[in-house]
Amino acid sequence: MASTNTIPPPLVRLESQPDNLMGSSDVAEVSNLLPANVNGIQDEVKIPATNGRESHQALATGTEKNAVIPPESRKDNKGVPWYHTSLNHIDPVTCDLLENYSKIPSDQIMQHVIAIREKAWDVYPYPCIGQFLFLNLTINLSPYYPTLVSRLRDENQIFLDLGCCFAQDVRKLVSDGARSENIYGTDLHGEFMELGFELFRDRKTLKSTFFPSDILNDRNLLLKGLNGEMNVVYLGLFLHHFDFETCVKVCARVTKLLKPEPGSLIMGVQVGSLIGDTKPIPIPSGGILWRHDIKSFEKVWDEVGAITGTKWKVEARLERSKGFGEKWQIEGTRRLGFEVWRL
Ligand SMILES: C[S@@+](CC[C@H](N)C(=O)[O-])C[C@H]1O[C@@H](n2cnc3c(N)ncnc32)[C@H](O)[C@@H]1O
Repeated sequence: MASTNTIPPPLVRLESQPDNLMGSSDVAEVSNLLPANVNGIQDEVKIPATNGRESHQALATGTEKNAVIPPESRKDNKGVPWYHTSLNHIDPVTCDLLENYSKIPSDQIMQHVIAIREKAWDVYPYPCIGQFLFLNLTINLSPYYPTLVSRLRDENQIFLDLGCCFAQDVRKLVSDGARSENIYGTDLHGEFMELGFELFRDRKTLKSTFFPSDILNDRNLLLKGLNGEMNVVYLGLFLHHFDFETCVKVCARVTKLLKPEPGSLIMGVQVGSLIGDTKPIPIPSGGILWRHDIKSFEKVWDEVGAITGTKWKVEARLERSKGFGEKWQIEGTRRLGFEVWRL
């Protein structure tokens, strides 16, 4: 792997808000939540006294402990099935991150993540927010993950999480030993990256650089500044926002961010399907979702190669996973995991 000492230009770090969750009104809204066992241990369900309010007992699942979001904290757009009104389990990997990286006491984790989820839902009601999917880290599921972590211990390796939202996968990488100063994150919504600092309580320690951008806006100078500098770009639950033609355009733009050398890598996950979509699947706020199967995903990269005059090797797989087959989605939905290598 060729390396370089070129340092990407300085970008804006988001540092405007104090990392002080306890002062937030959202915490007050959820302060009557159940004390939660975040290790996913099955236990007796306890629903808070409702005082005449709608009971959420029906939403509690079996014998798991639940943190229930009180009805008065819901807004009108919370009637959709992908806005989950209870949280009964947090993946142990994420728990570990919140407990040991963020130093959040285990009995406060449920309340903490629900408070952040509420704020994020008000920014934009993505299904990954409504379903707490951001609590299921994705980057570590890649078969390439252990190699990626070793690669990112090298001071010359630069990584970008594109469409990073809270940048939870960045935190996983950093907690596993990646050099945080070599990591960049960008998202359409700067508020999500701010909330990432609140979620992980690392505003003073994380040296990564975050900036807002729209991948479809060619004139964004901050994004342009990274052109040709990245060794790896991560696309977590991102590409399904785009129809086939736009997906090709986005991927071609992403290739420009990479160092123009063999071994440069674009990896990620997206909503996929056993049979790729020819029609969009509706999501909240009038948005849509496009699912690829492996063949249609490979076709994207054939077209990217043709447009950019480059060659790419696609490794992709369709997997069953929590949150990818729920009732608002149609049958055949799977998680599509991929690594795309520049040859
Ligand atoms: C479904 S969320 C996934 C977030 C995160 N990567 C994850 O794995 O949980 C998709 C993210 O892409 C961002 N996004 C959507 N369109 C974008 C665009 N045109 N440019 C940059 N980010 C975009 C959204 O704001 C959102 O945070």
